[in-house]
Amino acid sequence: MKKIIALCCGSKNGQGVTLVKAAAMGAAEFGVETEIIRAMELKVKPAPCSPKEDDVLWILEKCLYEDAGLIVAAPCYHCRANGYFYNIAERSRPVFSKRFDVLKKTRVGATIGVAGNGYDGWASMMMTSMNEFVQHTRVLVDQIQVNRCGMKEWNLWMQQDGQRTHKTHLARTQDMPYEKNWETFPQNYGTDFLNMAIERAKELGRNVARAMDMPIEEVKYVGEEAGVACPVCHCNTLLVPEDLPHVYCPVCSVRGKIVDTDGKMKVEWNQADAKFPRFSHDGVRHHVQWLRDHGEWNRKNEAAAADKIKEVSAYGKFIVPDSSGGTSVLENIPEFYGLVTQNGDGKLTVVSPDGRSMTFLVDSNTKVAIDMVEGATVAGLEKEQRIEVEYDASNNLALKIKSRPGSHRLHARH
Ligand SMILES: Cc1cc2nc3c(=O)[nH]c(=O)nc-3n(C[C@H](O)[C@H](O)[C@H](O)COP(=O)(O)O)c2cc1C
Repeated sequence: MKKIIALCCGSKNGQGVTLVKAAAMGAAEFGVETEIIRAMELKVKPAPCSPKEDDVLWILEKCLYEDAGLIVAAPCYHCRANGYFYNIAERSRPVFSKRFDVLKKTRVGATIGVAGNGYDGWASMMMTSMNEFVQHTRVLVDQIQVNRCGMKEWNLWMQQDGQRTHKTHLARTQDMPYEKNWETFPQNYGTDFLNMAIERAKELGRNVARAMDMPIEEVKYVGEEAGVACPVCHCNTLLVPEDLPHVYCPVCSVRGKIVDTDGKMKVEWNQADAKFPRFSHDGVRHHVQWLRDHGEWNRKNEAAAADKIKEVSAYGKFIVPDSSGGTSVLENIPEFYGLVTQNGDGKLTVVSPDGRSMTFLVDSNTKVAIDMVEGATVAGLEKEQRIEVEYDASNNLALKIKSRPGSHRLHARH
């Protein structure tokens, strides 16, 4: 039976796992079975690390060596894939070096990025990080980035029929104030969003399974294309090494030039580079050889600069945490706090220390939450009360009444 290995780097029962399972269901329609690895239940240490110390070597053997399709799902932390993902990806080089044949890309793969946000580029490097890993050993068939707050403009797969909304560009320009996003792009998908994401993930699974049945030379990328997409990784992040019009793809190192054709700008990609991207078999071999050659060169230079290095090495002091333990000062500082005021019309206004204010409608659900706080009801809230304000995983603003015992969170969509 044909098989897909799915590596999931997010929380144990999080959104990534849900989407991977949906992909597995799609693939199963074609008789392909999926084995799911949840990195967070395994021991995953950062490089450098001995293979005996954790489970990463096993994960890499499954993902890189097995005769299987590969789906990698990672959550977005701080605009790019999370540390679990990077710990695994960064340990892969010695594994490639032992089996260069896996770089020949005779198998297929796909990526699923899961982000909490959906605007202002908060997941901007998500897919680039994952592509760099997956495309070392797989021909990319499909990819989706699921920005869970669901703004269509930031979810390419939601722009049905390949049509971009007429506001797509606007949503991505820097002069659009944060507060105006929801107002300008009123897109209330609610629970439909997750249903749509699950359906799209199923399709991703089907796409991988279909590709597994084709001769590898005939496999094509079938995911949505961004307006300006690299021909190899299909991401639209451009690096400008010096001046425009010259750009290149930071993932694949395919060079390009911005050209103006009849008033429409586009990137003309270097097709020779596209056949020889950073992670191609020849690309990696070239890189490894280059490192070997220049390692020798480096060692010679270091020997020549030995006195200078000695002088610098003797300087500075290293610090480590106090072994006596104790509480971190951070534990007592709320992430972000504000003043909440009841407006008398069922709305709460929160004013942050930097003067930004946000108003929330208190619906019946949030009333219940407040009732649960000991001795407090909505009416019982003090007129001006200091509270914590933080973002929860869904990017909803969560108001936490800190001063009361057994405090509960009050969720309100901004
Ligand atoms: C430490 C941390 C950092 C995060 N940073 C981002 C971010 O930069 N952008 C974003 O869109 N979401 C961010 N999120 C939200 C996660 O991407 C989101 O909750 C996602 O669903 C997690 O995946 P999982 O459900 O599979 O665990 C962050 C979450 C955590 C815990």
